[in-house]
Amino acid sequence: MNLYDRIPNNVNLSEDKKLQRALEKWLPNYLDWWQQMGPDGFQQKDVYLRTAISVEPDGWANFDFVKMPDYRWGIFLKPAEPDAKIGFGDHCGQPAYQEVPGEFRNSLRRIIVTQGDTEPASVEQQRELGKTCPSLYDLRNLFQVNVEEGRHLWAMVYLLHRYFGRDGRDEADALLERRSGNPDKPRILEAFNQPCDDWLNFFCFTMFTDRDGKYQLSALAESGFEPLARTCQFMLTEEAHHMFVGDTGLNRVVKRTAQLMKQGDVRELGGIPLDIVQKHINFWFSYSLDLFGGEISSNSADFFAAGLKGRYKEQEQYEDHIVAEQNFTMTVVEDGQLKQRDVAMRNALNEVLRTEYVKDCEKGLARWNKTLAEEGISERLFLPSSRFHRHVGEYAGHHFDIEGNLITAEEFERRKGDWLPTLEDREYVRSLMHPVVEPGKIANWIAPPATGIKGKPFEFEYVRL
Ligand SMILES: [Fe+2]
Ligand SMILES: [Fe+2]
Repeated sequence: MNLYDRIPNNVNLSEDKKLQRALEKWLPNYLDWWQQMGPDGFQQKDVYLRTAISVEPDGWANFDFVKMPDYRWGIFLKPAEPDAKIGFGDHCGQPAYQEVPGEFRNSLRRIIVTQGDTEPASVEQQRELGKTCPSLYDLRNLFQVNVEEGRHLWAMVYLLHRYFGRDGRDEADALLERRSGNPDKPRILEAFNQPCDDWLNFFCFTMFTDRDGKYQLSALAESGFEPLARTCQFMLTEEAHHMFVGDTGLNRVVKRTAQLMKQGDVRELGGIPLDIVQKHINFWFSYSLDLFGGEISSNSADFFAAGLKGRYKEQEQYEDHIVAEQNFTMTVVEDGQLKQRDVAMRNALNEVLRTEYVKDCEKGLARWNKTLAEEGISERLFLPSSRFHRHVGEYAGHHFDIEGNLITAEEFERRKGDWLPTLEDREYVRSLMHPVVEPGKIANWIAPPATGIKGKPFEFEYVRL
């Protein structure tokens, strides 16, 4: 572990001078990007952050006050397994790839660039949020997520520089050039171009969109391209906290709303009505489903065949890692009707991964509904149908109601305000967003967390303003 190098790393960077120089050249560009596009207005403040200092399951992180531009962004891979094998696909059982196999070079680069692009994109999306934080605890969590997404960008940039030569370096530069929501140079995936400018959106984003990240990273964590697998394994350690922020953040919003419902009109009392929470769930869940790609996909088949991208918990959950014979029954739209169609399983692997993700999201909904029940409220939150409001795959270009029934474009237009946040809903939520920065205080629209960070109480001064 070289923690005190200019770029902290556990990949012996100092032994590869050419690579070290290339990354040290990328570093100031990264810092420029962070200054321009990172959290606005808090760069000189001390924030109680965790920094990765090891890849051991225990004690991998150090907690201390640091100014964000001084954060030690590093390159950390889980240690290599001595004789790692490709775990699935046509080359299952052969030695894992330690270098990029020529025939899969483009596919691999595309996987890495697409993953890499999401990391800075989310920082850009969340750039203004600090100014309206509901508490210092939440402000600190936002910044923790932001600096770690920055580190995830480093993780992907390392792979591009180390394994892809010239075009890898060009791709690494381009990762700092695209901008979330910019029509001329947008980020690659649509969920990462959506504005995330209030805290309800932020909690939905970390709940649903970061959770897509968990499933993509899990599928890549068993990749036959070993450096990618080892990188993703460590990224998942950090990612867990991001989803915790979203899941518990929404739970706290729901709890506060439930308390206010018992007192009177939630709007008059300055809370977020449950139907607005539901519409935000619908919005971010549907955009996050798109991130898994088309339901029927030859790319997913190719990536699996090549041993590059597997299923969720490929080794643990499945016995057949070849998947040459099986079929998957898919619901598709044919002649204006929903029909069942059998497709080769390898072509359905995006949908298989998406199904795992949906199951995981359901657990969050169950937790929030438990909170509602505990508060004595009978309303419940739910996930919309996976067909609702899709822009990618089989269901894109068709219209569905929240239960997944086919409807006309006109009907969708007429009813979409019942299902998705309206301009007025967004303005209302924004009207509640006033910064609360006194230690121990919390905004009126959200309940305080059950516990603080790293054994500290909620009242701890997590950010020194
Ligand atoms: Fe990330
Ligand atoms: Fe994340």
